[in-house]
Amino acid sequence: MSQGREHNNMKRWLPLLLLALVIALGAAFLVYFIRREPPAPPAGEHVTIVGFSQLGSESGWRVGNSKDVIAAAQRAGVELIYNNAAQKQENQFDAIRSFIAYQVDVIALAPIVEEGWNNVLQEAREAGIPVLLSDRFINIEDATLFAGYVGSDFLEEGKAAARFLQRKTEGMPRVNIVEIAGTEGSTPAKQRASGFRDTLGGDSRFHIIHSVSGDFLRSKGKESMRNILGQFSEIDVLYSHNDAMTLGAIEAIEEAGLVPGRDIIIITIDGEQGAIDLLKQGKINCVVECTPMLGDLIMDLSQRLARGEEIPRVSHPVERVFSEFDEDVLRIPPRGY
Ligand code: AHR
Repeated sequence: MSQGREHNNMKRWLPLLLLALVIALGAAFLVYFIRREPPAPPAGEHVTIVGFSQLGSESGWRVGNSKDVIAAAQRAGVELIYNNAAQKQENQFDAIRSFIAYQVDVIALAPIVEEGWNNVLQEAREAGIPVLLSDRFINIEDATLFAGYVGSDFLEEGKAAARFLQRKTEGMPRVNIVEIAGTEGSTPAKQRASGFRDTLGGDSRFHIIHSVSGDFLRSKGKESMRNILGQFSEIDVLYSHNDAMTLGAIEAIEEAGLVPGRDIIIITIDGEQGAIDLLKQGKINCVVECTPMLGDLIMDLSQRLARGEEIPRVSHPVERVFSEFDEDVLRIPPRGY
Protein backbone atom coordinates (compact mmCIF):
# COMPACT_ATOMS: atom_id res chain seq x y z
CA MET A 1 0.00 0.00 0.00
CA SER A 2 2.72 2.49 1.11
CA GLN A 3 4.98 1.17 -1.66
CA GLY A 4 2.22 2.01 -4.17
CA ARG A 5 1.97 5.60 -2.74
CA GLU A 6 5.76 6.03 -2.99
CA HIS A 7 5.66 4.81 -6.57
CA ASN A 8 2.87 7.30 -7.37
CA ASN A 9 4.88 10.15 -5.73
CA MET A 10 7.92 9.22 -7.81
CA LYS A 11 5.81 9.33 -10.99
CA ARG A 12 4.56 12.82 -10.04
CA TRP A 13 8.03 14.24 -9.24
CA LEU A 14 10.04 12.61 -12.01
CA PRO A 15 9.07 15.11 -14.79
CA LEU A 16 9.80 18.03 -12.43
CA LEU A 17 13.19 16.57 -11.50
CA LEU A 18 14.04 16.10 -15.17
CA LEU A 19 12.96 19.68 -15.95
CA ALA A 20 15.14 21.01 -13.09
CA LEU A 21 18.08 19.00 -14.43
CA VAL A 22 17.62 20.42 -17.95
CA ILE A 23 17.41 24.02 -16.60
CA ALA A 24 20.55 23.52 -14.47
CA LEU A 25 22.50 22.11 -17.42
CA GLY A 26 21.28 24.97 -19.69
CA ALA A 27 22.31 27.59 -17.11
CA ALA A 28 25.76 26.01 -16.70
CA PHE A 29 26.17 25.98 -20.50
CA LEU A 30 25.22 29.69 -20.79
CA VAL A 31 27.48 30.74 -17.92
CA TYR A 32 30.38 28.88 -19.51
CA PHE A 33 29.93 30.47 -22.94
CA ILE A 34 28.94 34.00 -21.87
CA ARG A 35 31.64 34.42 -19.23
CA ARG A 36 34.40 32.72 -21.16
CA GLU A 37 37.48 34.97 -20.97
CA PRO A 38 40.07 35.21 -23.74
CA PRO A 39 42.55 32.33 -23.45
CA ALA A 40 45.02 33.16 -20.68
CA PRO A 41 48.61 33.55 -21.91
CA PRO A 42 51.22 31.17 -20.46
CA ALA A 43 52.53 32.46 -17.11
CA GLY A 44 54.95 35.36 -17.53
CA GLU A 45 53.93 36.05 -21.16
CA HIS A 46 52.79 39.60 -21.98
CA VAL A 47 49.23 40.13 -23.29
CA THR A 48 49.30 42.35 -26.40
CA ILE A 49 47.32 45.56 -25.90
CA VAL A 50 45.83 47.12 -29.05
CA GLY A 51 44.13 50.52 -29.12
CA PHE A 52 41.65 50.56 -32.00
CA SER A 53 40.36 53.90 -33.26
CA GLN A 54 37.22 53.14 -35.26
CA LEU A 55 35.97 56.08 -37.35
CA GLY A 56 32.23 55.76 -36.68
CA SER A 57 29.07 53.74 -37.28
CA GLU A 58 27.84 55.16 -40.59
CA SER A 59 26.84 51.88 -42.24
CA GLY A 60 26.00 48.23 -41.66
CA TRP A 61 29.48 47.54 -43.04
CA ARG A 62 31.08 49.64 -40.32
CA VAL A 63 29.01 48.06 -37.54
CA GLY A 64 29.99 44.62 -38.88
CA ASN A 65 33.64 45.69 -38.96
CA SER A 66 33.58 46.84 -35.31
CA LYS A 67 31.94 43.60 -34.18
CA ASP A 68 34.46 41.53 -36.13
CA VAL A 69 37.49 43.35 -34.66
CA ILE A 70 36.13 42.96 -31.11
CA ALA A 71 35.42 39.23 -31.64
CA ALA A 72 38.83 38.65 -33.25
CA ALA A 73 40.60 40.26 -30.26
CA GLN A 74 38.74 37.85 -27.95
CA ARG A 75 39.75 34.88 -30.08
CA ALA A 76 43.39 35.98 -30.21
CA GLY A 77 43.64 36.74 -26.48
CA VAL A 78 44.46 40.38 -27.27
CA GLU A 79 43.39 43.14 -24.88
CA LEU A 80 41.49 45.59 -27.09
CA ILE A 81 40.79 49.21 -26.20
CA TYR A 82 38.05 50.20 -28.63
CA ASN A 83 37.11 53.80 -29.35
CA ASN A 84 34.41 54.94 -31.76
CA ALA A 85 35.02 58.46 -33.12
CA ALA A 86 31.43 59.09 -34.29
CA GLN A 87 32.58 60.37 -37.70
CA LYS A 88 34.91 63.09 -36.30
CA GLN A 89 38.63 63.15 -37.06
CA GLU A 90 39.32 65.21 -33.88
CA ASN A 91 37.84 62.35 -31.84
CA GLN A 92 40.31 59.99 -33.55
CA PHE A 93 43.18 62.33 -32.55
CA ASP A 94 41.95 62.24 -28.93
CA ALA A 95 41.64 58.45 -29.02
CA ILE A 96 45.20 58.03 -30.34
CA ARG A 97 46.54 60.36 -27.65
CA SER A 98 44.75 58.38 -24.97
CA PHE A 99 46.22 55.13 -26.37
CA ILE A 100 49.68 56.71 -26.17
CA ALA A 101 49.06 57.76 -22.55
CA TYR A 102 47.93 54.20 -21.79
CA GLN A 103 51.11 52.86 -23.47
CA VAL A 104 49.37 50.31 -25.68
CA ASP A 105 51.61 47.98 -27.71
CA VAL A 106 50.01 48.81 -31.09
CA ILE A 107 47.59 51.41 -32.41
CA ALA A 108 45.15 50.22 -35.09
CA LEU A 109 43.66 53.18 -36.91
CA ALA A 110 40.70 53.25 -39.35
CA PRO A 111 41.16 56.84 -40.57
CA ILE A 112 38.04 58.70 -41.68
CA VAL A 113 39.93 60.80 -44.27
CA GLU A 114 43.41 60.67 -45.76
CA GLU A 115 44.80 64.07 -44.73
CA GLY A 116 45.83 65.55 -41.39
CA TRP A 117 47.56 62.69 -39.54
CA ASN A 118 51.14 63.93 -39.39
CA ASN A 119 51.27 65.41 -35.86
CA VAL A 120 49.45 62.68 -34.02
CA LEU A 121 51.40 59.91 -35.76
CA GLN A 122 54.69 61.71 -34.91
CA GLU A 123 53.56 61.56 -31.28
CA ALA A 124 52.93 57.81 -31.58
CA ARG A 125 56.40 57.34 -33.06
CA GLU A 126 58.02 59.35 -30.25
CA ALA A 127 56.24 57.05 -27.79
CA GLY A 128 57.62 54.04 -29.71
CA ILE A 129 54.15 52.69 -30.60
CA PRO A 130 53.69 51.21 -34.09
CA VAL A 131 50.58 52.22 -36.03
CA LEU A 132 48.68 49.79 -38.24
CA LEU A 133 46.20 51.33 -40.69
CA SER A 134 43.02 49.38 -41.12
CA ASP A 135 40.33 49.75 -43.80
CA ARG A 136 41.37 53.19 -45.09
CA PHE A 137 44.65 54.77 -46.12
CA ILE A 138 46.30 58.10 -45.29
CA ASN A 139 48.26 60.60 -47.31
CA ILE A 140 51.41 61.47 -45.41
CA GLU A 141 54.88 62.66 -46.43
CA ASP A 142 56.77 60.29 -44.15
CA ALA A 143 55.29 56.91 -44.96
CA THR A 144 57.35 55.27 -42.20
CA LEU A 145 54.94 56.83 -39.67
CA PHE A 146 52.76 53.75 -40.12
CA ALA A 147 53.92 50.15 -40.16
CA GLY A 148 51.43 48.76 -42.66
CA TYR A 149 47.93 48.75 -44.08
CA VAL A 150 45.25 46.07 -43.95
CA GLY A 151 42.09 46.59 -45.98
CA SER A 152 40.41 46.33 -49.35
CA ASP A 153 41.79 47.23 -52.75
CA PHE A 154 39.37 50.11 -53.43
CA LEU A 155 40.85 50.90 -56.84
CA GLU A 156 40.15 47.34 -57.95
CA GLU A 157 36.58 47.64 -56.60
CA GLY A 158 35.96 50.65 -58.86
CA LYS A 159 37.44 48.78 -61.82
CA ALA A 160 35.28 45.72 -61.13
CA ALA A 161 32.16 47.91 -61.02
CA ALA A 162 33.11 49.37 -64.43
CA ARG A 163 33.83 45.96 -65.95
CA PHE A 164 30.35 44.78 -64.96
CA LEU A 165 28.87 47.91 -66.57
CA GLN A 166 30.78 47.35 -69.82
CA ARG A 167 29.36 43.86 -70.05
CA LYS A 168 25.82 44.87 -69.04
CA THR A 169 25.56 47.74 -71.54
CA GLU A 170 27.11 46.04 -74.58
CA GLY A 171 25.43 47.46 -77.67
CA MET A 172 23.96 50.56 -75.98
CA PRO A 173 24.98 53.66 -77.96
CA ARG A 174 25.05 55.99 -74.93
CA VAL A 175 25.08 55.26 -71.18
CA ASN A 176 24.16 57.99 -68.69
CA ILE A 177 25.61 57.32 -65.25
CA VAL A 178 24.93 59.03 -61.93
CA GLU A 179 27.34 58.46 -59.07
CA ILE A 180 26.68 58.70 -55.34
CA ALA A 181 30.16 58.80 -53.82
CA GLY A 182 31.45 58.16 -50.30
CA THR A 183 32.87 60.60 -47.76
CA GLU A 184 34.92 63.31 -49.45
CA GLY A 185 38.65 62.88 -48.89
CA SER A 186 38.34 59.22 -47.81
CA THR A 187 40.31 56.49 -49.57
CA PRO A 188 37.32 54.41 -50.74
CA ALA A 189 35.58 57.47 -52.22
CA LYS A 190 38.72 58.57 -54.07
CA GLN A 191 39.80 55.17 -55.35
CA ARG A 192 36.36 53.80 -56.22
CA ALA A 193 35.85 56.91 -58.35
CA SER A 194 39.29 56.62 -60.03
CA GLY A 195 39.11 52.87 -60.70
CA PHE A 196 35.68 53.28 -62.29
CA ARG A 197 36.78 56.19 -64.48
CA ASP A 198 40.13 54.58 -65.43
CA THR A 199 38.32 51.54 -66.81
CA LEU A 200 35.54 53.37 -68.66
CA GLY A 201 37.79 56.21 -69.76
CA GLY A 202 38.58 55.08 -73.28
CA ASP A 203 34.95 54.51 -74.27
CA SER A 204 32.99 57.60 -75.33
CA ARG A 205 29.62 55.86 -74.81
CA PHE A 206 29.89 56.36 -71.06
CA HIS A 207 28.89 59.71 -69.54
CA ILE A 208 29.00 60.41 -65.80
CA ILE A 209 26.31 63.08 -65.91
CA HIS A 210 26.29 63.78 -62.16
CA SER A 211 28.38 62.90 -59.10
CA VAL A 212 27.58 63.83 -55.50
CA SER A 213 28.82 62.74 -52.08
CA GLY A 214 26.36 60.77 -49.95
CA ASP A 215 28.89 60.41 -47.09
CA PHE A 216 28.33 56.61 -46.98
CA LEU A 217 24.99 57.26 -45.21
CA ARG A 218 21.65 55.68 -46.13
CA SER A 219 19.74 58.91 -45.41
CA LYS A 220 22.02 60.91 -47.73
CA GLY A 221 21.83 58.24 -50.40
CA LYS A 222 18.06 58.62 -50.45
CA GLU A 223 18.16 62.41 -50.37
CA SER A 224 20.79 62.55 -53.16
CA MET A 225 18.85 60.16 -55.39
CA ARG A 226 15.64 62.11 -54.87
CA ASN A 227 17.43 65.29 -56.00
CA ILE A 228 19.04 63.54 -58.95
CA LEU A 229 15.68 62.16 -60.13
CA GLY A 230 14.26 65.68 -59.93
CA GLN A 231 17.10 67.05 -62.06
CA PHE A 232 17.67 64.35 -64.71
CA SER A 233 15.19 62.35 -66.74
CA GLU A 234 17.59 60.12 -68.71
CA ILE A 235 19.40 58.00 -66.13
CA ASP A 236 20.63 54.57 -67.19
CA VAL A 237 22.88 53.67 -64.28
CA LEU A 238 23.38 54.40 -60.60
CA TYR A 239 26.93 53.73 -59.40
CA SER A 240 26.83 53.98 -55.62
CA HIS A 241 29.97 53.70 -53.48
CA ASN A 242 28.32 51.67 -50.71
CA ASP A 243 25.29 49.56 -49.88
CA ALA A 244 23.92 51.89 -47.20
CA MET A 245 23.55 54.73 -49.74
CA THR A 246 22.24 52.28 -52.36
CA LEU A 247 19.46 51.07 -50.07
CA GLY A 248 18.43 54.69 -49.49
CA ALA A 249 18.64 55.50 -53.22
CA ILE A 250 16.49 52.48 -54.10
CA GLU A 251 13.77 53.78 -51.77
CA ALA A 252 13.83 57.09 -53.67
CA ILE A 253 13.75 55.32 -57.05
CA GLU A 254 10.72 53.25 -56.03
CA GLU A 255 8.96 56.29 -54.57
CA ALA A 256 9.42 57.94 -58.00
CA GLY A 257 7.54 55.02 -59.58
CA LEU A 258 10.59 53.47 -61.25
CA VAL A 259 11.82 49.89 -61.01
CA PRO A 260 15.39 49.61 -59.71
CA GLY A 261 17.48 47.03 -61.54
CA ARG A 262 15.30 47.36 -64.65
CA ASP A 263 14.63 51.07 -65.35
CA ILE A 264 17.96 52.00 -63.77
CA ILE A 265 20.93 49.63 -63.59
CA ILE A 266 22.17 49.56 -59.98
CA ILE A 267 25.82 48.89 -59.11
CA THR A 268 26.86 48.97 -55.46
CA ILE A 269 29.84 48.12 -53.27
CA ASP A 270 30.15 46.21 -49.95
CA GLY A 271 28.01 43.07 -49.96
CA GLU A 272 25.82 43.67 -46.91
CA GLN A 273 22.99 41.17 -46.46
CA GLY A 274 20.41 43.82 -47.43
CA ALA A 275 22.10 44.42 -50.79
CA ILE A 276 22.54 40.73 -51.53
CA ASP A 277 18.82 40.21 -50.80
CA LEU A 278 17.97 42.92 -53.37
CA LEU A 279 20.37 41.37 -55.89
CA LYS A 280 18.45 38.11 -55.49
CA GLN A 281 15.19 40.03 -56.13
CA GLY A 282 16.63 41.71 -59.25
CA LYS A 283 16.53 45.23 -57.77
CA ILE A 284 20.34 45.45 -57.77
CA ASN A 285 22.37 44.25 -60.75
CA CYS A 286 25.86 44.05 -59.30
CA VAL A 287 27.41 44.03 -55.82
CA VAL A 288 31.20 44.41 -55.62
CA GLU A 289 32.34 42.85 -52.37
CA CYS A 290 34.26 44.88 -49.80
CA THR A 291 34.63 42.75 -46.71
CA PRO A 292 34.55 44.24 -43.20
CA MET A 293 35.90 40.97 -41.75
CA LEU A 294 39.39 42.31 -41.13
CA GLY A 295 39.61 41.43 -37.42
CA ASP A 296 41.77 38.28 -37.61
CA LEU A 297 44.24 39.95 -39.96
CA ILE A 298 44.44 43.02 -37.70
CA MET A 299 45.10 40.86 -34.62
CA ASP A 300 47.71 38.74 -36.38
CA LEU A 301 49.61 41.77 -37.70
CA SER A 302 49.32 43.60 -34.36
CA GLN A 303 50.79 40.66 -32.47
CA ARG A 304 53.67 40.50 -34.93
CA LEU A 305 54.30 44.22 -34.52
CA ALA A 306 54.16 43.86 -30.72
CA ARG A 307 56.90 41.20 -30.99
CA GLY A 308 58.97 43.66 -33.02
CA GLU A 309 58.58 41.75 -36.30
CA GLU A 310 58.32 43.29 -39.77
CA ILE A 311 54.90 43.09 -41.44
CA PRO A 312 53.91 43.48 -45.11
CA ARG A 313 53.27 47.09 -46.14
CA VAL A 314 49.90 46.18 -47.63
CA SER A 315 47.58 43.22 -46.91
CA HIS A 316 44.34 42.85 -48.91
CA PRO A 317 41.59 40.34 -48.05
CA VAL A 318 40.25 38.10 -50.83
CA GLU A 319 37.06 39.57 -52.34
CA ARG A 320 34.65 38.77 -55.18
CA VAL A 321 31.92 40.30 -57.32
CA PHE A 322 28.28 39.16 -57.09
CA SER A 323 26.08 39.95 -60.09
CA GLU A 324 23.03 38.96 -62.08
CA PHE A 325 25.43 37.15 -64.45
CA ASP A 326 26.30 34.59 -61.76
CA GLU A 327 24.45 31.30 -61.85
CA ASP A 328 24.63 30.85 -58.09
CA VAL A 329 23.12 34.20 -56.99
CA LEU A 330 20.27 32.49 -55.11
CA ARG A 331 22.75 30.32 -53.26
CA ILE A 332 24.92 33.12 -51.84
CA PRO A 333 25.34 32.14 -48.17
CA PRO A 334 24.39 34.53 -45.32
CA ARG A 335 26.83 37.43 -45.18
CA GLY A 336 27.06 38.07 -41.46
CA TYR A 337 26.88 41.86 -41.85
O1 AHR B 1 35.89 52.21 -45.88
C1 AHR B 1 34.98 51.23 -46.24
C2 AHR B 1 33.65 51.84 -46.54
O2 AHR B 1 33.21 52.58 -45.42
C3 AHR B 1 32.53 50.87 -46.85
O3 AHR B 1 32.34 50.68 -48.19
C4 AHR B 1 31.37 51.64 -46.34
O4 AHR B 1 30.18 50.93 -46.26
C5 AHR B 1 31.91 52.17 -45.08
O5 AHR B 1 31.12 53.07 -44.47
